[in-house]
Amino acid sequence: MYWTKKHVLVCTAVHCNQKGAMDIAGRLRLAVLRKGLDSGILVNNCGTIDLCDCGPNVVVYPDNVIYNGVTVKDIPEIMTHLEGGPVVERLVLSATSDAELGRKGYYAEALSNDGGLPAEAADALASRHGFDDQWIGEQLRRGFMARKPHAESGEDRIQVTKKARDRYSL
Ligand code: FES
Repeated sequence: MYWTKKHVLVCTAVHCNQKGAMDIAGRLRLAVLRKGLDSGILVNNCGTIDLCDCGPNVVVYPDNVIYNGVTVKDIPEIMTHLEGGPVVERLVLSATSDAELGRKGYYAEALSNDGGLPAEAADALASRHGFDDQWIGEQLRRGFMARKPHAESGEDRIQVTKKARDRYSL
């Protein structure tokens, strides 16, 4: 925005909101107002940014920073960043963060199994990449994988969706 120094977008779509995003957006807006910074820092809610498994997510422009897994306890540090301080590195999500590289590794290997993976094989693959079956469940709920019947056997297979392929450029 040409009249603001920073534009903060708090995803308050359903998955982030289930983990408290509305509260974060409200408190962040209030913190900016209380410090009299609202002419330079604009805080808005936004719809999904397709990182639904690791929200609540907060995007800061023009810094090109995505904070993930944000809680209300993180607001003071985020405020310090917004006031010109350092980026809160422990909350940053990027294509090269360890967590994203780990997830990308899983998806790249899963995609090499044409037709999808049986549930046990998906669990084993997840385990090799440092994830558990709860992680698989979260990825399924957030639309990065889907259960679909195999074309020939009709057995349930776990398949990687377009949402995951797009996110990890696979
Ligand atoms: S609901 Fe926030 S990234 Fe999807």
